[in-house]
Amino acid sequence: MPDLVRYEVKDRVAVITIDNPPVNALAPAVWEQIDQAVARGVADAGADAMVLVGAGTTFIAGADIKVFDVLKTPQDSMTRSAGTHALLRRVEDASKPLVAAIHGNALGGGMEVAMSCHFRVAAKDAKVGQPEVLLGIIPGAGGTQRLPRLAGAELALQMCTDGKPVAAPKAKAAGMVDEILEGDLLAGAIAFAKKKAAAREIRKVREIAISADAAKAGLDACAKMRESLAKTARGVKAPFAVVDAVEAGLKDGFDAGSIRERELFANCVVSIESKALRHMFFAEREAAKVPDIPKDTPTREIKRAAVVGAGTMGGGIAMNYANAGIPVLLKEVDEAALKKGLATIRKNYEITMSKGKMTAEQVEKTMALITPTTTYDGFDQVDIVTEAVFENMDLKKATFKELGAVTRPDCILASNSSTLDIDQFAQSSGRPAQVLGHHYFSPANVMKLLEIVRGRETSRDVIATSLKLSKKLNKTGVVVGNCFGFVANRMLAYYMREAYLLLEEGASVPQIDKVLTDFGLPVGPYGMQDIAGIDVGARIRQYLASIGKTRAEGPQSAIPDRLFEMGRYGQKTGAGWYKYDAPFSRNRTPDPLIEQMAEEEAAKRGLKRRPIADEEILARIMIALANEGARVLEEHYATRAGDIDVIYCYGFGYPRHRGGPMFYAETVGLATVLSRVHEYRARFGDYWEPAPLLEKLVTAGKSSFEQ
Ligand code: 3HC
Repeated sequence: MPDLVRYEVKDRVAVITIDNPPVNALAPAVWEQIDQAVARGVADAGADAMVLVGAGTTFIAGADIKVFDVLKTPQDSMTRSAGTHALLRRVEDASKPLVAAIHGNALGGGMEVAMSCHFRVAAKDAKVGQPEVLLGIIPGAGGTQRLPRLAGAELALQMCTDGKPVAAPKAKAAGMVDEILEGDLLAGAIAFAKKKAAAREIRKVREIAISADAAKAGLDACAKMRESLAKTARGVKAPFAVVDAVEAGLKDGFDAGSIRERELFANCVVSIESKALRHMFFAEREAAKVPDIPKDTPTREIKRAAVVGAGTMGGGIAMNYANAGIPVLLKEVDEAALKKGLATIRKNYEITMSKGKMTAEQVEKTMALITPTTTYDGFDQVDIVTEAVFENMDLKKATFKELGAVTRPDCILASNSSTLDIDQFAQSSGRPAQVLGHHYFSPANVMKLLEIVRGRETSRDVIATSLKLSKKLNKTGVVVGNCFGFVANRMLAYYMREAYLLLEEGASVPQIDKVLTDFGLPVGPYGMQDIAGIDVGARIRQYLASIGKTRAEGPQSAIPDRLFEMGRYGQKTGAGWYKYDAPFSRNRTPDPLIEQMAEEEAAKRGLKRRPIADEEILARIMIALANEGARVLEEHYATRAGDIDVIYCYGFGYPRHRGGPMFYAETVGLATVLSRVHEYRARFGDYWEPAPLLEKLVTAGKSSFEQ
């Protein structure tokens, strides 16, 4: 067994170092070796106390998440966690002072190990937390029992239900950390341990008594937390399980609480919610790895940027740069458009300020990083330009031609096009190796996704720089290929096709939207279009018609174009799929006119409208997405199914606890998805065509898109 935990004695203190790079995750062997090292320290006559520390950049980031995959039934988990609970009890029962020395992160199982030590000291920039809930589980090694004893039930509930880490100073104030150490952490921890040894002081967290008053306050906090979660944690179970576990400990004591924690953990860890969230954890990290772009690919530093177009998207993109502290030129055609764009940006910052998330000074400082302009002056100084003009091929080509002339030869030229062919812009610029797509999602300053669209000639360092930049801009970058609509919007066309057809066949706009929001999306397809603008889709359809194409095969609903012709563009015009109180208002009511249009279009297609069950709506929309996703994958426009899931979760707010459309298809079962496609083909027509990859996988008996 490799040495994952080292043991040495320094100045009569046993130093136990966990060394399992990159984050000292608690693989089964690490748990075991910690147990053995603590027993050795206790038996070692040369040691009066012990310090547990992490090698490298962190203490312990938690249990090894990959290991949860082997737990197939709650019983598997019960057995394993009984062992872990007993192990930590042995550690806590050590007869010599045991001090956790925390730097970097003590998260999840890492925090549970630290709380099983008698004392905790921390570097001042360290963080502690119980993020298990973000993986669809609860702390499973005593965290729901020890944390309330150390920090109080209210804070423990907060930390275990939102999963957010707490900085060392706050942890100290709340009693989770005994001392914050400046300078050399290990030396300080050894000195601290020696003091405790001299005073013969040992404190077991599980023995900290909870007074009757504190227990009552804790139970009240549980009730309040349940109420608040009922509003904020729709569709997920883990946060509620946290409350149950904490409550059990407050009512029945540490031992009974620990048994309840294990039962709840065991049920959570085998849930689809947890599998989906674990899938997303790794998919996000995998997405940053592009097979032919090794980690050591050279990148360029982006010190100055420019954005062309100060509309909704351009303004949001400029905000991303300013938020990251990168000065950005913002160009528009005239002063009026510029003024309007800047006013929107300022309004956005003022909203952030009104929520207490920015000070007036920060707003001014950030705004000062955005330099408005109506000319290309200064474009020869920037390292990247993002084009965000109207979605029109000729306009974009002309813009890239100009950009090729006014920028330095090594300047990256990115397009925020949501659909169009990047290679055509690349040719217009005269230096295609520097050109790629940076497709942001609306609102660009909020949504986390950045689709990085690779053109035929985009150089590797431009892609690597974009991936690095996406992190700096607080985005998740996913590299995709250059097909119409790239990955996100290409698939969305199929999602929308079904939404339109379901309306014509008999479902209503509010019903369809509700099915999707009940599923966990922040907004349904029609609400989303009203926000994004019905005109945007209509212009794309016009362009496609001009080159003889359609977005998704199958019957094309005429209703969206009829709305466009009526000037009903959505929220911004006060009417779209819904009626709004006023332009830009969010207060909406269903519009009988849409029903009337649906009747008319159904009649034209010879359809008799019928009541449609919610299940059919969900199934058709999700299966259309997954079937097209399989095609995208097979055609190599996405590197892996997980990338598509990341795109949907971060670009459209697809619920992470469902794992994205591809993972969802796997949970439904690929064979079921395929048989549904066949069924729809028989019912609705040949445009429902199974993706060849889906057929291949089912024939080969595979249950996953990962081949
Ligand atoms: N298990 C397995 N692998 C882990 C891991 C874990 N707990 N935490 C991180 N990793 C891996 C990542 O997958 C990544 O691998 P890769 O390089 O092959 O892609 C590598 O470690 C580095 O991680 P990041 O890229 O995320 O590095 P950052 O520096 O950006 O972030 C971090 C570090 C804040 C620790 C972040 O990785 C994180 O949040 N990790 C998860 C923490 C967590 O959820 N802990 C609870 C686990 S469940 C648990 O403990 C149950 C217990 O109650 C019994």
